[in-house]
Amino acid sequence: MQVVVAEGRMREEILDATFPVWNEGLTREAYDRWNAAQLRTPWGAEHLRRFALVDDRGRWVATAKRYLWPMRLDGVEGTMCGFGAVFTRPEERGRGYAATMIERLIEQSRAEGAAVAGLFSEIGERFYERLGFRTVPLDEFDVHVDRRNGAPAMLVRFGHDRDLPGLAAMHAVRCADVAFALRRDPSLIEYALTKKRLLAGLGHRAAPGAQRQIEFFVAEEGASAVAYVVLTVSSGGWTIEEAGDRDPAGARLGAILQVLIAREPSRATPLIRTWWPPAMPVPPQMRLLNRVPARDIFMMRPIADLRIPSRAEDVFYWRSDYF
Ligand SMILES: CC(C)(COP(=O)(O)OP(=O)(O)OC[C@H]1O[C@@H](n2cnc3c(N)ncnc32)[C@H](O)[C@@H]1OP(=O)(O)O)[C@@H](O)C(=O)NCCC(=O)NCCS
Repeated sequence: MQVVVAEGRMREEILDATFPVWNEGLTREAYDRWNAAQLRTPWGAEHLRRFALVDDRGRWVATAKRYLWPMRLDGVEGTMCGFGAVFTRPEERGRGYAATMIERLIEQSRAEGAAVAGLFSEIGERFYERLGFRTVPLDEFDVHVDRRNGAPAMLVRFGHDRDLPGLAAMHAVRCADVAFALRRDPSLIEYALTKKRLLAGLGHRAAPGAQRQIEFFVAEEGASAVAYVVLTVSSGGWTIEEAGDRDPAGARLGAILQVLIAREPSRATPLIRTWWPPAMPVPPQMRLLNRVPARDIFMMRPIADLRIPSRAEDVFYWRSDYF
């Protein structure tokens, strides 16, 4: 058995097999384009690859996507190999192929410098716990934003690529004292935005309940972004995917949210959900309510001699970087 990069015909077969599980409401063709386009982004081309475990006859039996996420853990800057879309052919399940593939990919990633492995489990904790992964707590909240009579007087505009260095700088400051965080440079942030925009764009013909829209707004001073928010808007409400404010009080971020809500004064405030890193200040116009563990289970396993964070306070992670 060996692990290979899944390309050409093998990639097509894998997309056919995984489409029913991860189609996100897309057509089969759009699912193909969504996957291909992520690999063509500057960040994706360098950090994301789809692998397959092939048997002695060269037939794939299991597959996964592997990301190399730049991260910092306990002061050590390194890489987290992240696994997504772990999948075994239905007729080959229960033979240890997924476990073998993950072990091989971890070994390979170790050789490429990865210090930890990470994933979001859709099948509970047990399977991955047996492989040495441990759950890393992430908190999910409902967000209450104080509604004002009208919008606060502040310039809010669409975000642009030229804002990304400012976003990266805000992130670096906010997560500086937290044990675990991704090192989000402009190209990673661009990837996170592009991935969501592609999904929204390719899904424009999806059933109304599955349609979504990505909104990226900044508040600026001089010509540079000083606060921002990225939202997914769907029929279920808004998700704050990521946010930032150069000021530690976060008042400009709160004002952006008030401006966005004031766009539709006659409508009820949408249901707003978020993963909010504990180290991120909560703007004075906002309250976080109904804390629950994030529905997506984040798990990590050490590869080098590092401690996996066990408290939400030790993690700075936005929904934007779900993989
Ligand atoms: C999960 C999956 C990748 C496991 O592949 P596999 O090659 O059969 O895995 P292994 O042989 O290494 O391990 C089998 C174990 O998987 C676990 N498992 C499989 N499906 C599971 C599920 N839905 N929930 C929890 N555990 C599951 C079982 O505990 C099984 O253990 P058992 O042998 O004690 O019954 C495979 O079932 C699959 O492709 N499922 C559909 C896609 C999916 O949900 N992927 C996971 C995304 S996080």
